[in-house]
Amino acid sequence: MTTLSCSPKRIQDAETPAETAELMRMRLKGIVPDVEISLKADLVFEINRLKKERNAIILGHNYMEPALYYGVPDFTGDSLELARISSKTDAPIIVFCGVQFMAETAKVLNPEKTVLIPAEKAGCSLAEGITKEDVRQLKRRFPGAPVVSYVNTYADVKAESDYCCTSGNSSAVLRYLFDKGHEQVIFLPDEYLARNTAHELGAAFVCGWDTSVDGMDLKGARTVIGWKARCEVHELFTVEDVLTARRQFPDAIIIAHPECSPDVIRLVDVSGSTKKMVEYVRQSPAKRFILFTECSMGDNIAAENPEKEMVRLCSHTCPYMKLITLEDTLESLRRLQFEITLPEDVIRRARLPIDRMLEIR
Ligand code: 13P
Ligand code: SF4
Repeated sequence: MTTLSCSPKRIQDAETPAETAELMRMRLKGIVPDVEISLKADLVFEINRLKKERNAIILGHNYMEPALYYGVPDFTGDSLELARISSKTDAPIIVFCGVQFMAETAKVLNPEKTVLIPAEKAGCSLAEGITKEDVRQLKRRFPGAPVVSYVNTYADVKAESDYCCTSGNSSAVLRYLFDKGHEQVIFLPDEYLARNTAHELGAAFVCGWDTSVDGMDLKGARTVIGWKARCEVHELFTVEDVLTARRQFPDAIIIAHPECSPDVIRLVDVSGSTKKMVEYVRQSPAKRFILFTECSMGDNIAAENPEKEMVRLCSHTCPYMKLITLEDTLESLRRLQFEITLPEDVIRRARLPIDRMLEIR
C-alpha cells in the first residue's frame, strides 16, 4: 500500500491555497511548470477541503496526471493495491480517480458505501472486449476449466468468473490453479497478458475465441485458454520501438507493462504492474529508465526520484484515464457524481472471485 507522503508536509494537509501551491512546487519541480501549478493549486486545495468535509477518501491510480496524483489521493497504487485499500476503508464515500472497472471493484467490496467516479465515460478497451455471454460460451466449450478474469473487466463478467487477478498477481493466481490440479484455465480478456503469463509459467496458450480448437485434446499439458481483447494503449508499442530506444539510450533499463505484446515483453529488461514499475525504479541503482506504458507514469516516478532520469515516452496515452481531471474530481465531490450502481446479484456473485484475488499474493 502506498501512502502518499511528501516532505516536509503532504500537499493534502496544506492549510491554505498558497501553502498548497508551495508544496506542489516542491514536489513537482522540473515536472510540472509553475504556471500550471498556479492554475491547479486552488483546485487541489478545494478538493482536499471538501473531501474532509464530506468524510470521503480519494483513491488514485498510478496513471493519474502528476498534479492530481500527488495532490489529492489519500492512497495511490495499481489496481490490486487500490482494491485492497478499498476493502479496508471506513470512509462512507470513496472517490475513485481511475477507470470504471476499478470503481466497480471498489463498489463490489463496499456495497453499502457511496462509490464515485469523476468521469462516467472512463472505460477501458479490455473491459469493453468481452461480455458475460462470451464467458458463458467459453464455459460451455471448456467444461471444468476455471475462469480467471483480469480485473480489467466489468462486474457482470466477474460475476461469471471463479477468480479475478491483476497484472500484479496473474502468475500467482494461475500457478495456484495449475498446482491445484487444473490442466486448463480460461484467462480473459487480455490476449497479451494471457500469453505473457502462460509463457512465464511454461504453459501452452490456445485462442479461446477460435472455435477450431473445439475437440482438440488439451489433456496432459498446462494450457491457458485466452480471449482476444487488447489494451488499445499497450498494443501500440512495437519491437521496433524497443530496438530504437535501446540504440538511442543503451544504458537505460526498459520496463514494460505485461499488456504489451509478447514480442515486446521478450525484449525488455523488466515487465510488471504499475506498482512493480514504481518499486523497481525506487530500489534500482540504475540512473536511466524508459517505461512502455501510459505516459503519466514517467512523470509520477520522476517526481519521486529526482536523481534518476525517466526518458519520457509520451506517444501513447490512455484516453480513459485522461478523462479524470482535477476539475471533474471537484465536481464529483460537490455533486456526489457519478455514483457506481450495480445490481445486487452481480455484487453478490462478483464478490467471491474478487475476494479470492485479494487472498492470493
Ligand atoms: P495496473 O494494475 O498494473 O495498475 O494496470 C492497470 C491498467 O489498466 C494498465 O493498463
Ligand atoms: Fe484499459 Fe489500457 Fe487504459 Fe489500462 S491503459 S485502462 S488497460 S485502455
